[in-house]
Amino acid sequence: MTIELKPLPLPDSAEPSHFINFGREVKGIHPGNCTFEQLEDIKQTLYQHEVLLFRDVVLTPEQQLKLTKAFDPESEIYGHGGKLESEKSSILHSALHAIPRVPQVQLIGNGMIHNHEGLAETRLKHLTHKTFHKTIISPEDEVKGFTRFYRWHIDAALYDLSPPRVTTLYAVRVPEGPNQICRYDDGTGDELEVPLATTAFVSGQTMFQLLPSELKSVAVRANVKYAPHPYVWMAPAHAKSTGLGIESEGLETPLEQLPSWVEDKIKIHPVSWKNPVSEALSFQVHPCCATEVMIKPLPPGASRENALYPNGAHLKELSEVRDLLYRMQRPAIAPSLVYPHKWTDKDLIIFHNRGVLHTVVGTLQPDQVRVYHQCNLAASEDPIGPSNEDIIKWA
Ligand SMILES: [Fe+2]
Repeated sequence: MTIELKPLPLPDSAEPSHFINFGREVKGIHPGNCTFEQLEDIKQTLYQHEVLLFRDVVLTPEQQLKLTKAFDPESEIYGHGGKLESEKSSILHSALHAIPRVPQVQLIGNGMIHNHEGLAETRLKHLTHKTFHKTIISPEDEVKGFTRFYRWHIDAALYDLSPPRVTTLYAVRVPEGPNQICRYDDGTGDELEVPLATTAFVSGQTMFQLLPSELKSVAVRANVKYAPHPYVWMAPAHAKSTGLGIESEGLETPLEQLPSWVEDKIKIHPVSWKNPVSEALSFQVHPCCATEVMIKPLPPGASRENALYPNGAHLKELSEVRDLLYRMQRPAIAPSLVYPHKWTDKDLIIFHNRGVLHTVVGTLQPDQVRVYHQCNLAASEDPIGPSNEDIIKWA
C-alpha cells in the first residue's frame, strides 16, 4: 500500500461502532496526478471503505474526469446521459450544468456564478425539500435552522444506462453559516445536527446488515424494476418527509405522457449489490424511482418459519412496493448511522456509488454561494447481485 489513510472525522451524532470500516481520509498524494500503483491503491481502498476524502486539492475538470474514468475505463458518458439539458421535465434539470469543455463534469451548487470554467453566467439552485417533499418546514422553523434531507439516492439514470461505479464530488467553494437541524418529521422525533449544505451518506452494507433475518431473505431474493425516464416520471410527485422515497398519491407522470421509451431499456436491478473487493452485500435501491419488486421463492431447504413471500411475489402496487422498501431502508438512515460531511474548500470526495446512499441536505439563501464539481459515468456493466451462496446463506 503506497497511500496513507486516516479515519474520517465523525460527528458526535455518529455511533462509532457502525463506522469502523466506513470512510477514510487519504493523505500525502494528489488524486489528480498519481502513479499507477497509487491509483490502484485508491481503487481498492475505496471499495473497502466506500467513501474517500482528499483535503486541500486543486483539481481541474479534466483531472476529475480522468480520475473518475479510472474506476471504469470503458465508461464514457455522464451517468445520466447527455440529454439532461433538453429534458426540461426532468426533476434534475435545474440542478445540473455541464462544464462545456468536459461535459461529464457538472457544476452544481447555489447562487450566481460568473465566468466559471467556460460558463458565462449561471444561476445555481441548491435542491431543497421545499420543492420536493409533501410537507415542508414552516418559515418560522426554517429561521430557527430546521431543515430536511432532500432525497436519498444512488447517482444513476436507472433507464437505459448502468449505475456509475463511483461519483467524485469536488468543493470549489463552500458556503459559510451555522449548522442546521435536519428533522425527520415522521413521528419518531429523530433529528440530526448537520453542517450547512452538507452531503449526507449512509452505508448500503449497514442497511443490509440491520435487516432482521426475514427481510434479509427478501433482500437477497428481490429485484427492483425502475420506471422509464424515472426523473420525469417522479417530477410531479411529492417525497416523504425523510427524503427516502415518494408518497403514494398517484401524481407520477402517466407512462404514455413520458418522453418516448422502450421496454428493453427499462432497468431491473437486484436489491442487494455485491462489493467487488469485500464481496459484502449492500442494499442499493433508489426508492423514488422504483415501480415494482419481484421476489424469487425461497430456495429448496430454506426454513419457512417466519418467512416473508416464501413462494415468491411480484409486487406491482406502488404503495405496497414503497411500503416494503421503506420498512427495509428507514432503519439505516437513523441519525446515528448518517455521516454528514463537513465540507471545506478544495475537499474532494470519491464515493462508491454502488455501496452508499447519499443526499443533499439543508436550505441555502441566494447569497450563500456553493460551487461544486460533480462527475460520474454510466458504467460499462450493471451491478452484480447476490451469488447462489449468498442466497443460501441469507434466504
Ligand atoms: Fe447524487
